[in-house]
Amino acid sequence: MKGRKKIAVLISAAVLAVSLAACGSTAGSPDTGSTGGGSTDTGSADAGNADAENTGTETQGNILVAYFSYTGNTEEAAQQIAEDTGGDLARIERSEPYDDVQTEGEDELESNARPEIKVDLDSIDGYDTIFVGYPIWWDEAPMVISTFLESYDFSGKTIVPFCTSSSDSIDNSLHIFSELAPDAVIAEGLTANDDADIEPWLERLGVAAVQ
Ligand SMILES: Cc1cc2nc3c(=O)[nH]c(=O)nc-3n(C[C@H](O)[C@H](O)[C@H](O)COP(=O)(O)O)c2cc1C
Repeated sequence: MKGRKKIAVLISAAVLAVSLAACGSTAGSPDTGSTGGGSTDTGSADAGNADAENTGTETQGNILVAYFSYTGNTEEAAQQIAEDTGGDLARIERSEPYDDVQTEGEDELESNARPEIKVDLDSIDGYDTIFVGYPIWWDEAPMVISTFLESYDFSGKTIVPFCTSSSDSIDNSLHIFSELAPDAVIAEGLTANDDADIEPWLERLGVAAVQ
């Protein structure tokens, strides 16, 4: 995708839903360390000081695309989003791989579990906008996403959910973001089953295309 435009994401006006809850946010203990296997982290999490005024320039430092992917579909979408936005990628993994995802994944959902995760990311401090991607499982986000949302302090940040699925849309899964990251702004989510939907969605979010 060499010829693709780089895009600066300046999410502000097009944010669709704002989390209004004002209670204390999650403990900011960034997670579980960064062992993660095989991830494609593309860069540093250095200070994201691209604020909402620097239109026309890339905002690479302040966009993170974090994702969990079991069979690779969501990873592909995440890679495209990172490429289009200049964002950094961070893969979310379950610390203990599933032996039987159908049974264990459903048990986790039914028990509202928080499976341990590992993420190749020390901190989200340098990011203003965090895309969070996952496959739809039983019409919900896998519980590792709940663990992820509770592992960092998203106060004042914008979360942009996306998913892939066989058929279900992202809609039913979105409740976790306002529940678990109540002090974040939650932007329009995307069911990213068709690559062609990604760029228009980024533009709807207030993306400015940059040469
Ligand atoms: C355990 C499990 C549960 C799933 N549940 C659903 C579902 O409820 N609705 C749906 O549309 N797709 C469902 N799928 C299909 C995945 O959401 C779809 O294949 C997705 O693109 C996989 O993403 P990944 O390759 O990033 O893991 C399920 C897949 C698995 C493995």
